[in-house]
Amino acid sequence: MTTNGWTRRDMLRLGVALGATAGAGFSALDALADVRGWHEDEWYPLVIPDTTPPYLETLACVPAIVDMGDGRPRGAWTYNGQLPGPTWIARTGDVVKTTLRNGLGEPTITHWHGLIVDFANDGGPLLEIDPGESFPYQFPIVQRASLNFYHPHPHMLTGKQVALGLAGAFIIRDSEEDALNLPAGPYEVPLVIRDASFDSSGNMLYNPSSSGFKGKVPLVNGTLRPKFAVDRGVYRLRVVNGANARVFRLALSNGRAFTIIGNDGGLLSSPAGGTQIVLGMGERVDLLVDFRALGAGQSVFLRCLDAGWDLVNFVSTGATGLAYSPPPVLSSIAPLSGPAQPTRTFTFDGMSRINGLEYDPLRLDFSVPFGVTERWRFKTGGNAPHPVHVHGAHFKVVSRTGGRGRLYPWERGWKDTVLLSDKETVDVLIRFNAYRGDYVIHCHQLEHEGMGMMQNFRVV
Ligand code: C2O
Ligand code: CU
Repeated sequence: MTTNGWTRRDMLRLGVALGATAGAGFSALDALADVRGWHEDEWYPLVIPDTTPPYLETLACVPAIVDMGDGRPRGAWTYNGQLPGPTWIARTGDVVKTTLRNGLGEPTITHWHGLIVDFANDGGPLLEIDPGESFPYQFPIVQRASLNFYHPHPHMLTGKQVALGLAGAFIIRDSEEDALNLPAGPYEVPLVIRDASFDSSGNMLYNPSSSGFKGKVPLVNGTLRPKFAVDRGVYRLRVVNGANARVFRLALSNGRAFTIIGNDGGLLSSPAGGTQIVLGMGERVDLLVDFRALGAGQSVFLRCLDAGWDLVNFVSTGATGLAYSPPPVLSSIAPLSGPAQPTRTFTFDGMSRINGLEYDPLRLDFSVPFGVTERWRFKTGGNAPHPVHVHGAHFKVVSRTGGRGRLYPWERGWKDTVLLSDKETVDVLIRFNAYRGDYVIHCHQLEHEGMGMMQNFRVV
């Protein structure tokens, strides 16, 4: 039996029939699993996570048995028994209220990646709670429409807990977005993309190597080899890279371009085209994809060119869908001007240090004046990818030199995570104008974060 806490009771709750050797717990299921393995030629219906309004009574981190599409019962760590957790839908001005319950056998805390909240609600490593404890969250949504996500953030355990399944999407809407009449309902599809590995019983496995946790197979919304039926129309795909250590190079199998309409910080000012999108861990992208040319029964795949994976199989129903073309102006992006020279420089050294230091939860690394625009410079000599993520404010990416040497269309507008590849220097303009208090900056390669590539700062 694994120590990850999946119990026979979970199995029974899922309605798994245990055989004559039921008393042995997992063994009967192991036998079953061998017969009902994952068939390489099958595609399983993509799971669309349930949604939750801003008020959710309980958000529980719990081990559970889930079905990833192939019918094999698999242990995972989940929010409220679901993989991924429920998708939050809130509007600017709403108040989010929930109570986190720690049903794991180790400390946890949940961070709302991309949400601008005060220290008490940020779910950083200083706020972790012990097994059996609860943590109340209550915060207003003070930012524009965007796709964010939530995941655990306990000191040194984030990578493990995310790899075992804990994550979910968080969508914010506002009137600026409403006015665009973007594809909605069945035509708006959240895609939480990650990789995963399994133990011999089919349970989620966390086995990081020195370059981080790389799963053997892709998992989209917790579904293995997902297929999704599409009408002949335009879809809005809202993609989160929820992997620990894998950068996805997204492309469509028919070579057509995506229409990029948004990223971490919400809508871009105008749509951009691109046949490939490089999405680092923690980054999000908002895409329009046109399936009008697809005849009934025909497929287009969303791929990762780097891994050589087909992530989602979109199969046409042949039915007429939505004709949509975005207007030339999507949103107004407030200008931000700041210093031409860096205010601070952060070097991402090795796999565990920023400016030569490993993270110490009790050390305050620097202070930032409230309301002042600074220019932060992120540099690395190697061991990338280092997706740099900042809590407490969004930023504008202003330059990349060395390495890839350019900025990409999906890096326009507002961001909270920017991908730093080997030998790159990236400058961003950032201003903390929502809350004073304590936040962190860290690498979103979760094993780097866990080993210490993180700093504490205070907005004063
Ligand atoms: Cu997505 Cu500090 O994390
Ligand atoms: Cu890193």
